[in-house]
Amino acid sequence: MEGTTRADGLLAQLTLEEKAALTVGRDAWTTVAIERLGIPSVWVSDGPTGLRKLRSSDDMSLTNTLPATCFPTESALAASWDVALVEEVAGAIAAECRAEGVGVILGPGINLKRSPLAGRNFEYFSEDPVLSGRMAAAFVRGAQARGVGACLKHLVANEHETGRMYADSIVDERTLREVYLRPFEIAVREAGPWTVMASYNRLNGEYCVESRRLLREILVEEWGFDGIVMSDWLAVNDRAASVAAGLHLQMPGSPTAPAVVAAVREGRLDEARLDELVRELLVFAERATAAGAEPAPAPDLDAHHRLARRAAAAGIVLLKNDGPLLPLAEAGDGVALIGAFAREPRFQGAGSSQVRPTRLETLHDELPHGAYAAGYADDGASDPGLLREAQEAARGARVAIVCVGLPESHETEGVDREHIDLPAQHTALVEAVLDVQPNTVVVLINGSAVAMPWAARASAILEAWLGGQGGGGAIADVLLGRVNPAGRLSETFPVTLADTPAHLDFPGDGDGRSHFTDRLFTGYRSYDARGIEPLFPFGHGLSYTRFEYSGLRVDGLTVALTVANTGERAGAEVVQLYVRERAPRLRRPDKELRGFAKPVLEPGERRELSFRLEPRDFASYDTRVAAWRTDSGEFEFLVGASSRDIRLRETVTLELPDSLPVPFDRLTPLRDWLADPATRERIESAMAGVPLLSAALDSPMIAAFVADMPIAKLVILGALDEPELGELTALANRAS
Ligand code: BGC
Repeated sequence: MEGTTRADGLLAQLTLEEKAALTVGRDAWTTVAIERLGIPSVWVSDGPTGLRKLRSSDDMSLTNTLPATCFPTESALAASWDVALVEEVAGAIAAECRAEGVGVILGPGINLKRSPLAGRNFEYFSEDPVLSGRMAAAFVRGAQARGVGACLKHLVANEHETGRMYADSIVDERTLREVYLRPFEIAVREAGPWTVMASYNRLNGEYCVESRRLLREILVEEWGFDGIVMSDWLAVNDRAASVAAGLHLQMPGSPTAPAVVAAVREGRLDEARLDELVRELLVFAERATAAGAEPAPAPDLDAHHRLARRAAAAGIVLLKNDGPLLPLAEAGDGVALIGAFAREPRFQGAGSSQVRPTRLETLHDELPHGAYAAGYADDGASDPGLLREAQEAARGARVAIVCVGLPESHETEGVDREHIDLPAQHTALVEAVLDVQPNTVVVLINGSAVAMPWAARASAILEAWLGGQGGGGAIADVLLGRVNPAGRLSETFPVTLADTPAHLDFPGDGDGRSHFTDRLFTGYRSYDARGIEPLFPFGHGLSYTRFEYSGLRVDGLTVALTVANTGERAGAEVVQLYVRERAPRLRRPDKELRGFAKPVLEPGERRELSFRLEPRDFASYDTRVAAWRTDSGEFEFLVGASSRDIRLRETVTLELPDSLPVPFDRLTPLRDWLADPATRERIESAMAGVPLLSAALDSPMIAAFVADMPIAKLVILGALDEPELGELTALANRAS
């Protein structure tokens, strides 16, 4: 690792007190410097929607921040399905960090959207681990290429806000590996983040900040992470225990360093473990300062604003477009603009990601319109007068644009939502306008899925998310057709809350434990498995043009196809590749996203796309051998425009690398011994001596009954003795 030799030299010169001091923040946002050895302090800032730099490093307030470009929240960015765009946005955020001397941006957030109720969903990418991981890797690459470290947060199973500082997420190992750790693993392996943030919560009874298994065995030893892990703010409970577990940096500053010194002196903490972390902290500090050594040019805030608007437009999802009503044939007098969000937009999430924008566009300013009506009051009180005004405006227009969504009081860090409804007065407004104006476009401004009981009545629905400071212009661009919508849902929109995968166990019983009983079946995996029709499926989104898919060809692990724009406008399509294992040895979801691409095509243009998959894309985590397993066999490749709009499919037989065999032991069922040529004959002859078992040799019914019997029962039945069982086990394990 670069800087290791220098770090070793420095480490040797540090006193125990200095080493302990380096593992605890100096204040709210900076690390400790040791001036006598030239070890610098590094400034870290939120993240992830833009730079949230406090004016002073000891200020933990939410608002006393410097202006910065407010980009769309992660929900919106992920809906673009555009890794290059996410990389560009992260690069722009990093440029603003560099100009302010910030070495690490505290993002991206890559917890999964296990339930639409999670208060912080706006700040996370997706319900799908692969989409989240790829987006996260793009963010990391974009920031780090500009010399600013990224921070994957929050490791791990921090999927709800309720009791977040003490909640215990109960997650089984397979689910953890395949779902909740997966985005972290993808981003660590693909992009090498400088930092990771360990979450507040416990995982299966152990605080994540105190889990050596998580912080060293998985993160460092398995995945090769070579950065540092910091705690979420105030997540540490016992500093010595978290040092022993591998948590490099406690944040924010705290008077805990003497406890680390005492633990070493009293023999409770091995100094070698402290040294290991300090060496890595020194390498990190050098990385951050080397990257920041070149003078940073002043960021081009105009260009960043334009990028924020482009990114917001890229994430807008056209959910419905009957008629088609959109794009608007003309703007101006015939357009009634309704809803206070058009004039005072909600454009970002609430909490630690909140940025002070450099400017703010509103739809009211950006969309030429006739009448305007607020429709609902800021305070959420119902107001029949406002509804009447809105109806009047809508009635006199050719088309009504109604902006509704979730105010901060419904969606914020630290608190989960209680339902997925819009505020009552927003729903009342939509219904009132629909009563008088058939040509109504509903524009949704929210960070996560909402219910839409009126969806069938609205001609057009646009999901605009929390679009950042350029969100108002972005909505106008899509309504007017200056931008052809190409956003696709990165989360399923359910009809009702009861349809959601974690409904019965989110956030838990109220005893501080949250059982992830939905297991592998997050998002669309659950709707597929339970045969539930979502309101709008994962991956869904319409365009002002049409795309045709053809010519699917699978050659080994490479999948190719052609997509053509057969409409009249240029546009981008999000082509999604799902994989299904036909006869999985371990039960698994019906299909899982394994690739996506977003070609931009002129009218009439065709493009050949190809996806190269890895054996890991076909693997499941087998807890019996604590490893990923692949099984050769039949796999179906499904290519579509959403998880429910599969356009092409092909089944092939794949030869995949051999996995670790599951060892035979006394609980291995007879079925497996009989299937193994090395043991079959001896098992059959042992069975022949026992009437119950010999019947199985010629009765399919009894055979089925016996097949599942552990071999140890043959000892109980007197058909085998212990030494014979030992011999057979050795034989089977040698042969397989
Ligand atoms: C949040 C983190 C954030 C940190 C610093 C915590 O409450 O969970 O995401 O980076 O505060 O603001």
